[in-house]
Amino acid sequence: KKIIFSGIQPSGELTLGNYLGAIKNWVKLQEEYESYFCVVDLHAITVRQVPKDLRARTLQVLAIYLASGIDPEKATLFIQSHVPAHCEAQWLLNCSTYMGELSRMTQFKDKSQKAGESIPVGLFTYPVLMAADILLYNTDLVPVGKDQMQHLELSRDLAERFNNLYSPTFKVPDGYIPKEGAKIMNLQDPAKKMSKSDENANSYILIMDPPDVIRKKISRAVTDTVGEINYTDEQPGIKNLINIISAITGESPESIVEKYNGCGYAQLKSDVAEIIVKELQPIQAKVNEYLSDKAYLEEIYKKGADKANYAATKTLRKMQKKIGLIPR
Ligand code: TYM
Repeated sequence: KKIIFSGIQPSGELTLGNYLGAIKNWVKLQEEYESYFCVVDLHAITVRQVPKDLRARTLQVLAIYLASGIDPEKATLFIQSHVPAHCEAQWLLNCSTYMGELSRMTQFKDKSQKAGESIPVGLFTYPVLMAADILLYNTDLVPVGKDQMQHLELSRDLAERFNNLYSPTFKVPDGYIPKEGAKIMNLQDPAKKMSKSDENANSYILIMDPPDVIRKKISRAVTDTVGEINYTDEQPGIKNLINIISAITGESPESIVEKYNGCGYAQLKSDVAEIIVKELQPIQAKVNEYLSDKAYLEEIYKKGADKANYAATKTLRKMQKKIGLIPR
């Protein structure tokens, strides 16, 4: 069986972008692939987190995975910090990663700008930890949104570099980007991606937003003055709404456009809102159920950590040996 690996940071409430760009695809892929889905808490702390919020959100992300339909019998669900091999492998990879290539990462450029004078080193080496996550599991495929492609390219470069420096060790992983959910845009500025760290709450839909909040945010979504429903870059707001429908229902953008021929934006918006509500409501109910059963969540992440540790440590030992570290 081929292997997939992916993860989400518990650095804020998850958005519809996280759901459509990542989680919804994982649910399909888990049937075909041996799957590892991680809550990447160590990545989250590259930005300052309130400890008790971080704890709560880490469990919430796990609950969202389960509630969205990730089956712990099929997939390995775990918390990144429970598998120390990730950090150890990161160090080994750090030693063959260049300052220049990390400086070119657009996410680093964005986030370091926001950090001002004092940029944490972790923010800089973040993509190397992500490469360690992926490479330790001999991953074939990494299902992510478009914004992670640059990091994935770096993971591929680091894998190839290590293989060339020593001997073939890592598979070189491919990205897997959903067609319509790859980049869900900001509802207030459809030129930017929808992001949980945006200061304007109207710009994103959270997976846990109540139905009325979803309806209100969608009704306020920025559109245009064309007045006609087309699927084109000239109408990025409308295009985004069509992408959201398409990513949820599986209907093609073309057939959605056809269906709304002659309709106004208000109709489209109210339908989008109902489609989102219908998708998220059952998930929200299950998230709350899982969160009220901490013992069950603990059982899942402990079992996941055992399995992940086994697989990751095997690869780590290979790396150490090839580099010339003496085995114990
Ligand atoms: P993160 O936590 O920012 O986002 C998690 C996933 O959601 C996707 N995503 C989106 N997709 C479509 N539209 C959007 N507006 C949108 N916003 C976010 C992201 O592409 C991602 O798939 N570095 C990663 C986490 C990570 C990881 C890994 C991923 C750490 N190690 C190993 C894959 C494999 C990140 O910050 O994702």
